[in-house]
Amino acid sequence: MKLMKRIVVTSAKGGIGKSTAALGLAAALANAGHRTLLVDCDIGNRCLDLMLGLEDRVLYDLSDVAEGRCTPSDALIQPEGMTDLYFCAAPVTAAAEPESEISAYIQALRLLAEETNAEYILCDTAGTGPLVRAIAEDFAHGALVIATQQPASIRSAEHTASLMETWGNLPCRLLISMFEDRAATNGSRAGLLEIIDKTHVRTVGVVPRDRALMLAQEEGRLPDGKSRAGRAFKNIAIRLTGEDVPLFYGIREIKTGKVL
Ligand SMILES: Nc1ncnc2c1ncn2[C@@H]1O[C@H](COP(=O)(O)OP(=O)(O)O)[C@@H](O)[C@H]1O
Ligand SMILES: [Mg+2]
Repeated sequence: MKLMKRIVVTSAKGGIGKSTAALGLAAALANAGHRTLLVDCDIGNRCLDLMLGLEDRVLYDLSDVAEGRCTPSDALIQPEGMTDLYFCAAPVTAAAEPESEISAYIQALRLLAEETNAEYILCDTAGTGPLVRAIAEDFAHGALVIATQQPASIRSAEHTASLMETWGNLPCRLLISMFEDRAATNGSRAGLLEIIDKTHVRTVGVVPRDRALMLAQEEGRLPDGKSRAGRAFKNIAIRLTGEDVPLFYGIREIKTGKVL
């Protein structure tokens, strides 16, 4: 399997854990010693600065790099104690994504990649729109498509994966987020096989629904590596680097056989 190093995090449905996954994975990769760049590409709707507790440190954003108002290094922030993690915020005010600026945004991503010399780059996105398309066509090596157990999100993930293949011929990997293992076990919500089967995308990992993760985000703290979700992000980071690790490794409460 060719390693995906520039990753667009996507899926057309909102509120399903895309930003959470982008951040959790970026932190796990950085904690494992990989130089990682996390870029909030959800133009006009930025959130990662809040989730990282960095809102007071954002002076410049991706649009400032795109439009030459600052140098790439001016727009990069390193969360405290995270020597291998670089972050660039999205503009908060841009109402839409004017077509004419799209190529400038892609150029900004290239400049940030060059400035950080990052091994992994994660672009959190709005899920659809011209910028996502341009990232798929001209920047990313692969797509991380997010789905939950919700039927609408499963359908959306399938559709998004086919767009990624059409636009950028991108390999896609499925990340199942907010997974409720008990609901899968008792059959009240989709199990893993149903989600994988319906999306037609190869799975890279499952992140359990974890209240501790939600609270950490609301307080602007990085996910605790020992929490269920934190452990899941570690596992996904390991798989992205080409190594194998059991689906729920380190998450003792969940038995793979029961949630299929
Ligand atoms: N694994 C999880 N467990 C619990 N809450 C989660 C999980 N993943 C995401 N959330 C919560 O769901 C909400 C939406 O997540 P977010 O990452 O912003 O979605 P998106 O980027 O797809 O709109 C947030 O409040 C977030 O804290
Ligand atoms: Mg988001």
